[in-house]
Amino acid sequence: MPKVTLIAHDGTRRELDIPSGWSLMEGAVQNDVSGIVAECGGGCACATCHVVVDPNWLAKLPAPSATELDLLECTAVPRQANSRLSCQIKLSADLDGLIVQLPERQT
Ligand code: FES
Repeated sequence: MPKVTLIAHDGTRRELDIPSGWSLMEGAVQNDVSGIVAECGGGCACATCHVVVDPNWLAKLPAPSATELDLLECTAVPRQANSRLSCQIKLSADLDGLIVQLPERQT
C-alpha cells in the first residue's frame, strides 16, 4: 500500500497508507485530513483538494488534464508550478513515498 506524507501548512507531517487505485484525495478524506476539503467529491470541479507536490515527485505523476489545469487557476491559495489536484492523483506502487504539502486554505 503506497505511503504518502502530507505536510500541513503549520509543518505538521502525517503519513498515510492509501490503497493503490485510490486517489490521494480519497485517502486524505477517509483519514480525516483537515487540509483537504474536496467539495465536489473527486469530480475535478471544485479545486478544494489542492496540494503542492514535492518537486522530486512531480515527474512521476501523469501530466494534468486540461480540466485540471483550468481548475488550478481557481484554487483559494494561488497555485505553484508544482500544484496538483489531489483527486486527480491515483496512487500506485510507483508513488510509494510521495510527499505533498497542503496549502494554507482550500476555500
Ligand atoms: S475534489 Fe473537487 S476538484 Fe478535486
